[in-house]
Amino acid sequence: MNRMLSILSGCATAALIGACNAPSEQSAAAAGNTQYIMDPHSYARPAEAAATHLDLDIHVDMEKHRISGTATYNLKRQSGDSVIFDTDGLSIEKVTLGDGTPAAFTLGAKDSILGQALRVALPPGADKLAITYSTGTEAKALQWLAPEQTAGKKFPFLFTQGEAILTRTWIPIQDSPGIRITYNARITVPKELMAVMSATNPQERSADGAYSFKMDEPIPSYLIALAVGDLGFKPTGTRTGVYAEQGVVDTAAWEFADMEKMLEAAEALYGPYRWGRYDVIVLPPSFPFGGMENPRLTFATPTIIAGDRSLTALIAHELAHSWSGNLVTNATWNDFWLNEGFTVYFEHRITEALYGKDYNDMTNVLGHQDLLATIAEIDSGKHPDDTALHLDLAGRNPDDGMTDVAYEKGYALLRLIESKVGRPKFDAFLRGYFDHFAFRSITTDTFLVYIRKQLLEPGKVNVDMDQWILKPGLPGDAIVPTSRNFALVDAQLARWEKGTPAKDLSTAGWGTFEWMHFLRRLPKHGSDAKMSELDAAFHFSDSGNSEVLAAWLEQCIKNDHEVAYGKLEEFLTTVGRRKFLMPLYQALMATPKGQAVARRIYQKARPNYHAVSVNTMDQMLAWKDKKPPATF
Ligand code: BES
Ligand code: ZN
Repeated sequence: MNRMLSILSGCATAALIGACNAPSEQSAAAAGNTQYIMDPHSYARPAEAAATHLDLDIHVDMEKHRISGTATYNLKRQSGDSVIFDTDGLSIEKVTLGDGTPAAFTLGAKDSILGQALRVALPPGADKLAITYSTGTEAKALQWLAPEQTAGKKFPFLFTQGEAILTRTWIPIQDSPGIRITYNARITVPKELMAVMSATNPQERSADGAYSFKMDEPIPSYLIALAVGDLGFKPTGTRTGVYAEQGVVDTAAWEFADMEKMLEAAEALYGPYRWGRYDVIVLPPSFPFGGMENPRLTFATPTIIAGDRSLTALIAHELAHSWSGNLVTNATWNDFWLNEGFTVYFEHRITEALYGKDYNDMTNVLGHQDLLATIAEIDSGKHPDDTALHLDLAGRNPDDGMTDVAYEKGYALLRLIESKVGRPKFDAFLRGYFDHFAFRSITTDTFLVYIRKQLLEPGKVNVDMDQWILKPGLPGDAIVPTSRNFALVDAQLARWEKGTPAKDLSTAGWGTFEWMHFLRRLPKHGSDAKMSELDAAFHFSDSGNSEVLAAWLEQCIKNDHEVAYGKLEEFLTTVGRRKFLMPLYQALMATPKGQAVARRIYQKARPNYHAVSVNTMDQMLAWKDKKPPATF
């Protein structure tokens, strides 16, 4: 495994808080206001030569499933005679310098996780180069969808997913979150389609299929994103709006009507939104995540369209990343909790402002349940240290270490600190943190130095940060959340268990979270008749709410309710969101009979899944046939 250096700018400010005391760092700061950290997941050596700006000029071939064109970089050079980029599966046709002369380049050995280093020789003073390239057939960032896999069924669709280290499969790039660049792009697509990016976006389609984009704020590579399809746009406010396939735009805009209010609530908490517009694109259901915080344009799964606006906390989460993650970024994937833990905290603050305390108490309990289940699972696996907040993912696929721990244990730590110092102080601290580290990538250490100095030491706060951050497990002082709504749910469940018929339970006014809790708490009874009774009373199988349906289907598997397997198969072959796939396949894999069902469904569903989900599910099912999906 190659351990290389990544770059962090702004050591001058870090020096104020004591982070830059080593002599070499001080002189680096004096020379170029620069601090370096290790990123085990990038070949780049930004201390020598770092990209500062990208001009991307590419064509998207929706038939051949190929992107080709030129990536032109401006470089900041400090030493050495070369620059190194990350690539994975790319064909590099040529590299030229700013003056048009060809540059010598070599591709290093292939690593199954990191891909290949592209090293370009640079004469003294050369600070610009252009890489002409095309993508390979198994570019993991890209999912090419056939018309049948879209809502409209008429046009193909493409979307990219960069986080964590997939951008290198569609752009030759220094693919470390510690390196930030601005970018411009010119993208050509078939003229009946529209292209959008994590940048300034069109609201109408162009006549010739050519689109131009600008991202003027420096962002890490994993936030560069592109989607191409039969898209339409509808505003939800002055700064917010929704992109989706034409037939989905109106429904999506209705569902996300609160976006503008969320943006205002977020700004009231932690300062101005720094990215101009905030839009969301609703992708086809194979999108492997709930959401992805691509700047200016969150990418989202359609499974949050429930028809009652009950699953929009996910939008609050992705919006919150505009501060925690996109403004202040984890410097390496070992520091992933800095992105996600802070974002879950911020998400809860937004939803509390909009929907109140009862709502938040419920999501707190659900999150805490997820955390306990994840810790138990990690404890019984190969990497028990993954329950620490700071991770050691060197030599591993970073994706494999990104679990609920970063989200929910990270959140639990921030909540604990908040409870000790009080909200006003904690809010002032967070506001200062986002401003202080704005447009920078930081490590857990840098955060620790900062919070100790700014908040913990002055307030004499008694929290064992090292225990929380560096050690596995959930410390005993974690706050255990409770919810009065859920207490009512528990009471009804107890009645049902004692014999009250399901149809006679008092469930009036229950929403998505109450039902999720009800289903999660359902005792394992293995009775087909009882499952039928519940379904007849509450119509879970027909639920248009993906969270409720997924929780129900999981119980159907655990209780051998095979009547529901048709629905299960339909769900698993249309939805590619990994969070739903994992517990369902896992429940099936628990019995020999279930394993056969899992393998049969997976065989059929796998071509519909994104590489990110395929990677996880192949491992879970010990899948041998690793052929790329048939659509390639
Ligand atoms: N940044 C993540 C998605 C991600 C994580 C992509 C790790 C690649 C690697 C995003 O912000 C996220 O957390 N999405 C969640 C939803 C959220 C409400 C917890 C998801 O997709 O489920
Ligand atoms: Zn997130």
